Amino acid sequence: MTVVSIVSSPRKGGFGDRIAAEIEEGARSAGKDVVRFDLNDLRSIRQCQNCEACKHNGGTCVLKDDIAPVIDAIRDAEGIILDTSIQFNEMNGLFKVVFDRLYCFLDMNATTIMEKGKKVAVVVTASADADSAERVSKNLDNVMVQHFFCEPVGRIAYCTWMMPKDMPVDQTVLDEARAIGARFRS
Ligand SMILES: Cc1cc2nc3c(=O)[nH]c(=O)nc-3n(C[C@H](O)[C@H](O)[C@H](O)COP(=O)(O)O)c2cc1C
Repeated sequence: MTVVSIVSSPRKGGFGDRIAAEIEEGARSAGKDVVRFDLNDLRSIRQCQNCEACKHNGGTCVLKDDIAPVIDAIRDAEGIILDTSIQFNEMNGLFKVVFDRLYCFLDMNATTIMEKGKKVAVVVTASADADSAERVSKNLDNVMVQHFFCEPVGRIAYCTWMMPKDMPVDQTVLDEARAIGARFRS
């Protein structure tokens, strides 16, 4: 079974990329296949149209853009890794566009049709705004639990303190990320 990793920082080799990669390695060491989507590589992207078609067709988003395979992968996955950077105190815009597309997993009564019990790990990076990183990471966990009945396996809110993107990530954080990944074990 598969863990889907959704990485939205535009910086390949940046902090979120490396922390998410460490969670992925932990998941692999626990015997999981990992599929990663670097959202910045997607070209055809549309936001949820609130058309409600998904509410009448059993939960299929009718938008056929580059986000569609991401949504399909989440539907089939047993675990999800979510990574966003903080931009102006919030999750970044690209991540938000993809995150909103999870609306297709809610039925007319706002009850999830996603298989319950998927494990979820969250990574949020910021330069210096530790409060926003903490708040946004908690909020992502809360949405995944309250709306989609996911099981959180770990959350990392990481401040880079304006370091260049190729500076090392704290080893304690990488160790924590690896341990979080291992919790994807069934
Ligand atoms: C448009 C933009 C807005 C940003 N706003 C904030 C902010 O409000 N607070 C903050 O601490 N960092 C902010 N940052 C810095 C990024 O959060 C930071 O560089 C990123 O999380 C580093 O992780 P990464 O290497 O995974 O991209 C912003 C960056 C950009 C590009």
